[in-house]
Amino acid sequence: MTQDLSSNNSDTVYLKDYQSPAYAIEKTDLDVAIYPGESFVEARLQLVRQSGLVSELALDGEQLELLAIEINSQSLSKDQYRLDDGKLVLIEPPERFELYTKVRIQPEQNTSLEGLYRSRTIYCTQCEAEGFRKITYYLDRPDVMSDFTTRISAAKSECPILLANGNLVEQGDLTDGRHYAVWHDPHKKPCYLFALVAGDLSVMEDHFVTASGRNVDLKIYVEEKDLDKCDHAMASLKNAMRWDEEVYGREYDLDIFMIVAVDDFNMGAMENKGLNIFNTSCVLAKPETTTDAGFQRVEGVVAHEYFHNWSGNRVTCRDWFQLSLKEGFTVYRDAEFSADMGSPTVKRVEDVAMLRTHQFAEDAGPMAHPIRPASYMEISNFYTLTIYEKGAEVVRMLANLLGPELFRKGTDLYFERHDGQAVTTEDFVQALADVSGRDFSVFQRWYNQAGTPQLEVRDEYDENTREYTLHITQSTPATPECADKQPFHIPIAMGLLGDAGEIALKLRDEELEDLPTDNTHRVLELTEQAQSFVFTDVPEKPVPSLLRGFSAPVKLKFAYSRDDLVRLALRDSDGFNRYEACQRLALGVIEDALAADSGGELNNFTPDERLLAVYQQLLQEEGLDRAMLAYMLLLPSEGFIAEQQSVIDPIAIHRARGEVAGYIAKALHKPLLAVLENYDLRKPYKPTAVDIAARLLKNTALEFLMREPDQAVVDLCVKHLQQANNMTDELASLTALVNSRSPLAADIAPQKLADFYAKWQDESLVVNAWLALQARNANPGGVERVEALLAHPAFEANNPNKIRSVVGVFANANPVNFHGGTDADPEAGYRFLADQVIALDSKNPQIAARLITPLTRWRRYDKQRGGAMRGQLERIKHTPGLSSDSNEIVSKSL
Ligand code: ARG
Ligand code: ZN
Repeated sequence: MTQDLSSNNSDTVYLKDYQSPAYAIEKTDLDVAIYPGESFVEARLQLVRQSGLVSELALDGEQLELLAIEINSQSLSKDQYRLDDGKLVLIEPPERFELYTKVRIQPEQNTSLEGLYRSRTIYCTQCEAEGFRKITYYLDRPDVMSDFTTRISAAKSECPILLANGNLVEQGDLTDGRHYAVWHDPHKKPCYLFALVAGDLSVMEDHFVTASGRNVDLKIYVEEKDLDKCDHAMASLKNAMRWDEEVYGREYDLDIFMIVAVDDFNMGAMENKGLNIFNTSCVLAKPETTTDAGFQRVEGVVAHEYFHNWSGNRVTCRDWFQLSLKEGFTVYRDAEFSADMGSPTVKRVEDVAMLRTHQFAEDAGPMAHPIRPASYMEISNFYTLTIYEKGAEVVRMLANLLGPELFRKGTDLYFERHDGQAVTTEDFVQALADVSGRDFSVFQRWYNQAGTPQLEVRDEYDENTREYTLHITQSTPATPECADKQPFHIPIAMGLLGDAGEIALKLRDEELEDLPTDNTHRVLELTEQAQSFVFTDVPEKPVPSLLRGFSAPVKLKFAYSRDDLVRLALRDSDGFNRYEACQRLALGVIEDALAADSGGELNNFTPDERLLAVYQQLLQEEGLDRAMLAYMLLLPSEGFIAEQQSVIDPIAIHRARGEVAGYIAKALHKPLLAVLENYDLRKPYKPTAVDIAARLLKNTALEFLMREPDQAVVDLCVKHLQQANNMTDELASLTALVNSRSPLAADIAPQKLADFYAKWQDESLVVNAWLALQARNANPGGVERVEALLAHPAFEANNPNKIRSVVGVFANANPVNFHGGTDADPEAGYRFLADQVIALDSKNPQIAARLITPLTRWRRYDKQRGGAMRGQLERIKHTPGLSSDSNEIVSKSL
């Protein structure tokens, strides 16, 4: 009775077709028996009809071998059910009944990492979005919420630990060296939040006392060798639990909270009720093996999954079109948490850089979709930067429009009103509207229209009337789902900088007593296609500081002069806009270099000295956050520069940016070297904001200096590599050495790479970083290098982290090599990527589909490059048996 495994179901699902479920599943009783090579799942579901007569009920099920089926303890005859195309169809089911099924599954063969699978020695599950149907027949949709009891049995020696959601209610020994455990989850939940784990795991334990005084046991399960890397995750978890109580009034609701780390995982982590399952990369951390970015990622992801307990689990999504309801909100929550744990401005700068480089590119490409899409072919393809990061920006705008008190009132109402329900993004916005009396009807367009709005701002100053006017228009380019956009509701946080500082703001028609006490900062709300804002009593023509804190996910066009940007960079009160002014200034200078390059004049190019002057002043500024200084000195990435061009020439961008960077390195040699020399290599590692900032600045300086180093600088770099007491410094030194174009560095880099591998080969996560740094190496020969990495013993062809570290990093973060190809074959980078996608597609379609992204951007390049990229997409498309995941991406981008 095995079903067709390769159901290439390319049907599109539409939001407008949503229908509430015909049956509820009041209780779900699972018995999962794990044996070597096969497992058996018995399910007893209590189904209750929700509406009028139902002639057929279709349950989802994929890759299941049906062994037995009964309704109310009676075996079904052939005319009472049928199996077709991923469905078990019950014919004329009763109004209320118990469905019993027994299926056989093969976790060891499951390379899709969805459903029940085996990662190294651990059996684990991943059910979101539609993986539960690979475990048993079910109504696999988030609006079917059930009371789950899970019995797991397995060999005690292989799997001493047996975990599932909720509370442990029973355990014991069986014959033949087997044992069992029974877990019950008292909270009704959709099956995508189901989880079970079985394996030989070690545990780190702690506990947390909630605001109302309940004790919660906290357990992090890892392989024994990783037990020394759990402290940071545990501390982050406790911080997150406290923060959610303080900031959102949300307490944890079970007596136990568990995290399990597995090495093979498609994403970062998963918020299964009471039993979060994590990619090892998002939970394990210790100073010797983990970079600052790694520590921050662990803190952020642990918090993110924990916060889902309310924003996602207690209140869940009605259907998968609502994914951003839980993801956008939860990313906003974790970003604010990380901001509170560290430096808010730094966190904002990092998030915005990511959003503008990668989400904006998605919004401008063939896969552009609104944060609430109207249709999809494969929901796994919609775990995107748009749903997550842009979704978070939209929640941030709502939070800022309401202010902290009202926003908290609104989220309280949302959680209270919808506790235990599966709801929509409208429900979320409605709660915020209800507490504030605000009209969000225009705002709602952020949920339904894709694309990045562009603001064009023009200003006008009248010396006689002392009036200063901002004329603002908005427009949004067409995206696949909608050509003609309606205006968005765009909050524009702003101030005006005069010669002597910030100018008091008074809009025309505004009464004096209406003015806020701090009236140098204002939020203008644009809701129409064009609006003008007139400020009165403005003593001089100011420089406007617009979109402070990046108050909306838009592109801003304003004709800033370079002198305006210098003023903003040095004197704006908004930290984000100081950074932004530096980015604009640097971008302008790099674009000058690009222009010189296209005229064959790059050799004679000298950058605008105002950029250097700003950097020099920033390096001397007292009290400036070291991390902010580092980010302000950092030139815009090649990816970000590319986003700004009408036709992308990645090779020219690499050359131009490199030229400017080299010039800065030379001109600022002294102060940059001073940063390096003042750095205390022996200081014990702590992942605090201040220390992270010091390392970031030092390593930024090192990267600059290693562009054209003398022997003394190379020696210093090697010294840092050898004496580093933490992975941040060790990896940064190795990276600077490997990426340097200098023969002084090139001579020793191979040996240092080999030494590093020899030292860390048993630490899988460090090996990932070692692979990634080589995949990112922008020096010539990139394609040959990544091909060699695939053949290296450290590479594991089925492990998503390894694939991402080599293939993903190469295609996304090494543009000069990916687009440059080899001497013999300029298309070699594209061909390499397509080969990898094709090889992976049948094994792990989710990861394969994700890897395709860089090729989908082919329209952004010149005819020849674009054509070659397109050619590889065609090749992928014609792969026999291509997954629906890859098929959706390829067909939408051709
Ligand atoms: N909900 C998880 C998180 O963001 C991610 C789930 C990934 N699911 C998937 N089908 N790839 O925390
Ligand atoms: Zn999430």
